[in-house]
Amino acid sequence: MLIVGAGSSRLVRGAAGETRAIDRLGVPPIVLSDGPAGVRIHPLRFGVGETFYATAFPNEIVLASTWNPELVERVGKAIGEEAKEYGVDVMLSPAINMHRVPLCGRIFEYFSEDPLLAGEMAAAYVRGVQSEGVGATLKHFVGNDQEVGRMVINVIASERALREVYLRPFEIAIKKGKPWAVMAAYNKLNGLYCTQNPWLLTEVLRKEWGFDGLVMTDWGAGDNPVEQVKAGTDLIMPGSDDIVKRLLDAYKQGLLSDDIINQRVKAVLNLVAKSLKAGGYKPSGKPNLDDHAKIAYEAALEGMVLLKNEAALPIVEKARVALFGRGSYWTVKGGLGSGDTCPRYVVSIADGLKERNVFVDPEVEKIYVSTLHRFFEFGTSQQVFKQMREWALKNGDMNAVEFLLTQFVEWMMEWTRTINIQEDFFTDEFLDEVAQRNDVAIITISRVATEGFDRAPAQGDFYLRDDEHRLVARVSQAFHRYGKKVVVLLNVAGPIEVVSWMDKVDAILVIWLPGQEVGRATADILLGRASPSGKLPLTWPRNLFETPAMRAYPGEPKDNPVQVVYSEDIYIGYRYYDTFNVEPAYEFGYGISYTTFEYEGLAVEKSGEGLVIKFKVKNVGSRSGKEVAQVYVRALASKLTKPFQELKGFHKTKLLSPGEEELITITIPVENLASFNGRYWIVEKGQYEIRVGSSSRDIRLKTVIEIDNDMCFDVSWRQITC
Ligand code: BGC
Repeated sequence: MLIVGAGSSRLVRGAAGETRAIDRLGVPPIVLSDGPAGVRIHPLRFGVGETFYATAFPNEIVLASTWNPELVERVGKAIGEEAKEYGVDVMLSPAINMHRVPLCGRIFEYFSEDPLLAGEMAAAYVRGVQSEGVGATLKHFVGNDQEVGRMVINVIASERALREVYLRPFEIAIKKGKPWAVMAAYNKLNGLYCTQNPWLLTEVLRKEWGFDGLVMTDWGAGDNPVEQVKAGTDLIMPGSDDIVKRLLDAYKQGLLSDDIINQRVKAVLNLVAKSLKAGGYKPSGKPNLDDHAKIAYEAALEGMVLLKNEAALPIVEKARVALFGRGSYWTVKGGLGSGDTCPRYVVSIADGLKERNVFVDPEVEKIYVSTLHRFFEFGTSQQVFKQMREWALKNGDMNAVEFLLTQFVEWMMEWTRTINIQEDFFTDEFLDEVAQRNDVAIITISRVATEGFDRAPAQGDFYLRDDEHRLVARVSQAFHRYGKKVVVLLNVAGPIEVVSWMDKVDAILVIWLPGQEVGRATADILLGRASPSGKLPLTWPRNLFETPAMRAYPGEPKDNPVQVVYSEDIYIGYRYYDTFNVEPAYEFGYGISYTTFEYEGLAVEKSGEGLVIKFKVKNVGSRSGKEVAQVYVRALASKLTKPFQELKGFHKTKLLSPGEEELITITIPVENLASFNGRYWIVEKGQYEIRVGSSSRDIRLKTVIEIDNDMCFDVSWRQITC
């Protein structure tokens, strides 16, 4: 039965799924593979001489931090090419849920707290992947914004919050990217599983937005395949013979009509027909990993965000550097779970610096390497791993064995990198000597995250451990004693607490989990070979519990939640902080550079296409750099309550040399100013402030425009009388 998947892929080992073939009709099986950061397949296979390494691209949170859709499109294209040459027909990416709680275990797989930024980035990613003839899948539709209870949790959200915030990025990406597929999420939405929710899958997605691609379930989502098929799901994944039987029984009992089944089969056949497999493409098994590594490097470089810099960065080329923190030597490249990848290599920060001829203090390195080595051996020789391997071998499941030997080992290694080992193992005398003989200290704080679990609001995860606090304090004290600077690198999946320690250090650079080229990209930023140009795609709170969603998180009952109410409604991220005057640690859109930019000459015209906003950005500093200019709109008076301001456009400049300027034009369709009043979209007449700036709180230019009449739109954006 075509509308039920055939389990994990047999054609491409390690790929998450495959559709069923119909040999007598010449319908081939097509292969579906994760995930956002690159193609997730087994790099090594039994009985096969070649290797199948995939490029580890930066995670989506890093891609969003670039604010550069053109670059993200190139990442998507490279992922598409890799998929194509490895025989993957459909990518199970991009993921496009919202950064609602900083603790979300998949925060690294998602783009932003802002629907416009998330939607534009996803659209670019989709265009890139699909330009290679490989399908892209927007996931997880919708409301999978936390991992606690994800298989069952009932998300309660108002229609306004859904339409303005949670559905919006999907809508943008569908219109601007035209993805071949959408994956319905595990969770329930307002009472019904997303995979069994006709309002979501049929009304909104197909009727209102005109989506004509395929809808699949997340792997093992929901509890009733018959309801799934009725509600609008075309393909149940990963699929099982039991589900086929349940559907056949339902059909025989008249619970599923021919018409419904035909619609679903047609969607699957359409997807198969579009695939490279159906076109007879013969994958080479040899994607251009070298070229893709360069793109991964570029995206990592542009996604790094400089939070603080008190004359510490860039460091001089000939500097002697003392590298602290295990992440300096075993840098975490990406998050775990389906968003993981198995690349040929990961360049650590230490190796990246050494490659650039930076002197890395060997004694500090020796201590880390010898201490951590023991933990690595511990991690990979775990009893549980041995038992699983024996089980897999006994059952002759080579796919499982390959998984254990490649992806699972990878996961164990990544966890080992961040488990609770004390790092404050230096004496004061030793630190003093290190401070004397080096020019600068770099401390890497690493964290990993995975689907299936949220990040813990605890030390070692959201908060620094005690030994990390001590490390930061003692290294800073020792280096400052000699007038030397201390730089902290945050090798993290999402925000962590910074307020309690940020004043102790001179610079903080968020490098995120930026893929296999992490060491090279970090080194080039540290050395000033490139100026940082990333900006935060989400607010970093001063205090985790000031995040509005934390009031209801993780839902009720607390120990095993089955329901979570989005009580903050539309006030997610900066929409909350700005409206309710709450000071964040670092605001949405924030990120500094080694150079400075001036904004001037704001002019706004109304044209048939919308508001045409023009201004200039000039590099007035002494280094080359790129700036992310952001346009926020604020309704000065409205009947409907609205957030203080909302992002309505952005533009990343080209690389501007000192003194160089760029004229920027951003067009905002007028309907993009609309809010949803519960029944339809409305742009109220009145004054709107156009706010142009370098972050959501660093507004450089403002002007007020007038909308003369109310304008209303239905849910499909057809203009209606108000
Ligand atoms: C994840 C999806 C993924 C699928 C297949 C699920 O557990 O939620 O994002 O695509 O597995 O690996």
